[in-house]
Amino acid sequence: MTVRRRAVMAAGGSGGVGGPVKERFGTLADGTPVDRWTVSAGGTRLGVLSYGGIVQSLEVPDRHGRYANVSLGFERLEDYVSRSPYFGAIIGRYGNRIAGGTFTLDGRQYHLPVNDGPNSLHGGTKGFDKRMWDVEPYAQGPGTGLTLRHVSPDGDMGYPGTLRVRVDYVLTPRGDFRIQYEATTDRPTVVNLTHHTYFNLAGEGSGTILDHTLRIAASRYTPVDSTLIPTGELARVAHTPFDFRTAKPIGRDIRDAHPQVLAGSGYDHNFVLDKGLTGTPQHAVTVAEPVTGRVMKIATTEPGVQFYSGNFLDGSLAGTSGKVYRQSDGFCLEAQHFPDSPHHPSFPSTVLRPGETYRSTTVHSFTAR
Ligand code: BGC
Repeated sequence: MTVRRRAVMAAGGSGGVGGPVKERFGTLADGTPVDRWTVSAGGTRLGVLSYGGIVQSLEVPDRHGRYANVSLGFERLEDYVSRSPYFGAIIGRYGNRIAGGTFTLDGRQYHLPVNDGPNSLHGGTKGFDKRMWDVEPYAQGPGTGLTLRHVSPDGDMGYPGTLRVRVDYVLTPRGDFRIQYEATTDRPTVVNLTHHTYFNLAGEGSGTILDHTLRIAASRYTPVDSTLIPTGELARVAHTPFDFRTAKPIGRDIRDAHPQVLAGSGYDHNFVLDKGLTGTPQHAVTVAEPVTGRVMKIATTEPGVQFYSGNFLDGSLAGTSGKVYRQSDGFCLEAQHFPDSPHHPSFPSTVLRPGETYRSTTVHSFTAR
């Protein structure tokens, strides 16, 4: 594999529209070239790889107009291929875990690769985060951006049906980063697409995210067993470390001895958004970083969001700017259906049938105050 060292995106001006521009990022072992696309609008600058649809950089200004890359990642393709904990990637076919790597649909049992203890995580051993995507400039509606397409064949990673997937990364004129997913199938299947950017609003490599304040509009969450599979209960967050209904620092209760904090080695839980599954994106989360003043709001059509506080970052990876990532140096907020939904008929369904179109939209808005 050939690799090329890259600095984060420097082009794009402040506020103007730039790109999309395509450059070579590296080459996979089998000779497949991997591109890096850059696009900017409304003060937000995005760098995206055709491998995994990975958001390799996401630059936004602080309250003084100073830019930082607020997404954890690598500068070498080789690191993404060999050791990435899903940094910046599109996750599919199924975000988060399916218990025992098996599910039954219409009376037939399907077997998935088991890659996380006894369970199948993030689509299996070679999920959408490790696949090549066809990328072209986004050409629909307002905004500038990229359209990524991937066709997952029938039986891919054990999942039934040919799944045709389209993901749009759109930057709106005011710099919102909008992710739109669409998928169709030719056999009944299950789908739960999400995105796995690790954020640090002070800039990747700048330390922990424990001082960021977080608000999640969720009165309930899904407690998990020791392998991080939901028990099926929708537990109330009230009087627990999981109560983010009013903004609080991520670190405030992260060392609480609550059994669920212990189970996740911190936060690694699906929050049941009060707004539920919606036809248009509705506000779900606000995160603010006190020193730089950067604020990120998330609106989504999805009924849940997995809040993962970077618990398994262990100091063994050096990121984009050469700094080592340690526990809680980034956080993920993965808007999605609930983990292991195929085993929980009471959860919103993740079944997709021929003739239907899976649609999901999540919008990240950036400001500084
Ligand atoms: C999961 C974590 C997992 C991480 C992988 C998150 O979506 O909830 O349990 O370790 O992805 O980096």
